[in-house]
Amino acid sequence: MPYVTVAGERTFYALYQGDLRGKRHLVLVHGAGGSHLDWPAPLRRLGGANVYALDLPGHGCSEGAGRSSIAAYRDFLLAFLDALGLEKAIVVGHSMGGAVALDFALHYMDRLAGLILVGTGARLRVLPAILTGLLTDFEATVDLIVSYAFGPSASEQLKRLGHQRLLQTPPQVLHGDYAACDTFDVMERLGEIRCPTLVIGGTADMLTPPKYSAYLRDHIPGAELVLVDGAGHMAMLEKPEVVAKAVSEFIASVI
Ligand code: COA
Repeated sequence: MPYVTVAGERTFYALYQGDLRGKRHLVLVHGAGGSHLDWPAPLRRLGGANVYALDLPGHGCSEGAGRSSIAAYRDFLLAFLDALGLEKAIVVGHSMGGAVALDFALHYMDRLAGLILVGTGARLRVLPAILTGLLTDFEATVDLIVSYAFGPSASEQLKRLGHQRLLQTPPQVLHGDYAACDTFDVMERLGEIRCPTLVIGGTADMLTPPKYSAYLRDHIPGAELVLVDGAGHMAMLEKPEVVAKAVSEFIASVI
């Protein structure tokens, strides 16, 4: 599995080369405390595209330090694209990764072939119990996050795995991620985005409710919304085939 040095930090990404002509590049950006494993196989190995599922610094298999602002992750994403020589890509962001993707669109629009926003929003205020709890009682706060993160039909096994992975994230990295989300707000700037956009949200998402997805659809010019019935915040893990189908149809329409 490949690594690339980005901004002096050894960065891991899972790569699937599904487009040998090298035209369709999909970059998957995980959410708070996540890694490339937040993306299920049908997305990480989407036919017809070269799929790069990176681990942000301090996460998963990547070295380096986590950041505490969306702007810092946005610039890391730019450096990642530069390091891999990707002139243009479709960026797919989940939750905090969606905030990174939105901010990227507002700063580096010419590097985007499309934008896919999964379980995210234009503002991501965080429950104070999560923000402070991560510093005072990490394990109980991870329990709390997991209790909000999955929809009613998610299996116990999936929830257990999500719990394990979050517990493996260093507390300061997870706290930095949520602090980054808490100050993120581009509610008034969405009208500036000029690139094909797909919004995907779970109808049972408690962390970024469907209202957030509808706001993105209503304020990003031309954006489309796919609501995934019964899915929670981890819609792509809960309903992988539905999400992969929506992504696949979108990328076929934009490149
Ligand atoms: N898109 C659309 N509407 C949004 C929004 C978004 N991204 N973010 C906030 N809003 C709306 C809210 O629904 C609310 O509308 P209302 O006044 O009609 O109820 C209004 O804007 C203000 O909300 P907010 O900025 O969130 O402040 P708040 O003080 O009302 O609530 C929290 C703060 C933390 C309680 C709340 O944001 C929340 O429950 N967040 C979800 C849980 C969480 O921690 N998510 C993690 C995200 S990474």
